[in-house]
Amino acid sequence: MSVDFLSLELSEAQFEKISRVVYRLCGINLRHGKEELVKARLTKRLRALKLGSFEEYMKYLERDRSGQELAIMIDTLTTNKTSFFRESQHFEYLRQRVLPGLTSDRIRFWSAGCSSGEEPFSLAIVLREALPEVDQRDVRILATDISEDMLETARAAVYEEEKLGDVPAQLLQKYFTRVSHKPVRKYRVKDEVRGLVRLAKLNLIESWPIRGPFDAIFCRNVMIYFDQPTRERLVQRFWELLRPGGHLFVGHSESLRASQHQFAYVQPAVYVR
Ligand SMILES: C[S@@+](CC[C@H](N)C(=O)[O-])C[C@H]1O[C@@H](n2cnc3c(N)ncnc32)[C@H](O)[C@@H]1O
Repeated sequence: MSVDFLSLELSEAQFEKISRVVYRLCGINLRHGKEELVKARLTKRLRALKLGSFEEYMKYLERDRSGQELAIMIDTLTTNKTSFFRESQHFEYLRQRVLPGLTSDRIRFWSAGCSSGEEPFSLAIVLREALPEVDQRDVRILATDISEDMLETARAAVYEEEKLGDVPAQLLQKYFTRVSHKPVRKYRVKDEVRGLVRLAKLNLIESWPIRGPFDAIFCRNVMIYFDQPTRERLVQRFWELLRPGGHLFVGHSESLRASQHQFAYVQPAVYVR
């Protein structure tokens, strides 16, 4: 029978093992109630590899000394959902309350967990719009993610029209170039926006070869997958990399209310050092 028609069984022990590996490698906590997600997403991977059981997959994983399959597994199990100007209140806040206070020549933002690039490119557009003299200043947005696949998409910076629904028409016209018409319209982010963004692979739970201080860090919709101790460690490390008065933006479903931290609360999902 073709592998396509088999319903694959994921035993408790196999799920435990996968959860342990994922937690150790990237901090994502799958233990509580994520069996179905793991099974559904990895089943697709097994099918692509034409493997007939999770037992075979575990062996395949162990045999692969290059670490490539582990990276693919992590990619498969992480959620990369993002969009331009997602959680738009943050961009409003940035424009109205953060940018006017940035008087130094040097401006540094960090999009930590940038997925396919929509977040850092949205930040770059806001910077360009608000600071006409941006090219005369030392401005950089560091954008990092654990997923090589997502970074590849961000490097290409080409997006289908349906992904650009939240980009106002006037900004679409100004900062994107249409690169294909059929079968779907695609747009590429212009160099003047891409040029402000440095993309790099970085695992947030490992050490960071990063020099601060940052004026603002955006770590949105990433920590939700981590457990409390991992989140608290991360938030403390962000605090250390922000300059006094620097802002931390988290996802709206990731309040730091239950966490130990040194930040002052500003408004939902916005904190200041
Ligand atoms: C849901 S996306 C969020 C994207 C964007 N920040 C936003 O809010 O739209 C989460 C991203 O976090 C990344 N991620 C998960 N664990 C990570 C880790 N340990 N280190 C770095 N990035 C990680 C995933 O690869 C994914 O691209």
